[in-house]
Amino acid sequence: MIKRILLTGSFGQIGSDLTCALRKIYGGENVIATDLSTKVTDKIKNGGPFEQLDVLDGKKLAELIDKYQVDGIFHLAAILSAVGEKNPALAWNINMQGTINVYNVAKEKGIKRIFTPSSMAAFGPTTPFDMTPQDTVLQPNTMYGITKVAGELLGKYYIEKYGMDIRGVRYPGIISNETLPGGGTTDYAVQIYYDAIKYGKYTCFLKEDSMLPMMYMPDCLNATIGLFQADKSRLKHNTDFNIAGFSVTPAEVAASIKKYIPGFEIEYAPDFRQAIADSWPNSIDDSCARAEWDWKPSFDLDATTRDMLAVLGEKHKQGLF
Ligand code: NAD
Ligand code: SER
Repeated sequence: MIKRILLTGSFGQIGSDLTCALRKIYGGENVIATDLSTKVTDKIKNGGPFEQLDVLDGKKLAELIDKYQVDGIFHLAAILSAVGEKNPALAWNINMQGTINVYNVAKEKGIKRIFTPSSMAAFGPTTPFDMTPQDTVLQPNTMYGITKVAGELLGKYYIEKYGMDIRGVRYPGIISNETLPGGGTTDYAVQIYYDAIKYGKYTCFLKEDSMLPMMYMPDCLNATIGLFQADKSRLKHNTDFNIAGFSVTPAEVAASIKKYIPGFEIEYAPDFRQAIADSWPNSIDDSCARAEWDWKPSFDLDATTRDMLAVLGEKHKQGLF
């Protein structure tokens, strides 16, 4: 049983929601939020411990593990696809050096379990695009994707060589309403909801028919915590589980919003992120996750749209954006 958890990158799009979800399960004092940034929100500050941590600083990570007697880690700190294409050296450094630091310190400190996300970005233009299988070609053409494949393999190496317990899923694009995304190719599917409410229109950086797998945050949290808590004896895979929510194009997201905001308008101005999107799957086969740890999503596009518009509508009324 894991008792005390540390998260890296806990102020990010996923970390900010995951920190709160884990604190509800494990208790606020038992979930230590860390991030490179010091811009801590009241929600995270008031819910439990926070420490500033650069994942490149293994010594400080080791000190924090001792200080809080941590036995589980969610390693979320990373550079995402669009920022990574603008600055590939940064993406390589944070995503690879950061991850190997976490694994080396975790090995030294006897950490019982680690969760490190991979991404659908591990796939590339030579991977089958439709219902992309679990075990398939991994030849991404983005630096972000390269670090995700290498991260999956690095985790397997530490599992096999040192007997560690490292788990991860290949997230699709995550849609959420707590924290804006940090510079990925699927960010449009979040910003479109904010702009629909604030301006009644949105200019999309992908083409209208660019189909990508997406997932709403409650399903992302269920997948993350579900795999972390899964019975190890049932798992045949470890660092690289495919998971899927629903697949959509920007035009379909816009049509879903129009059901609730009839005057909503969308324009398209594809930029460099289109090439990244074109290299990723249309849809994903997540049957291994379903079979090995009972993964099952709950939200489709319309359920996501209804909830996003309700939550963001309330935030807008309160003047929060
Ligand atoms: P994000 O960009 O929103 O957040 C990343 C966080 O890491 C930020 O708070 C940032 O301050 C922090 N960080 C950056 N450099 C750091 C460093 N050197 N040391 C410590 N912290 C640092 O990212 P996210 O969307 O929350 O993603 C979390 C994980 O999930 C990443 O591994 C990402 O690749 C993966 N993922 C995310 C998505 C998605 O759609 N959000 C999809 C697939 C995979
Ligand atoms: N949402 C992420 C990105 O676009 C996918 O890993 O970079």
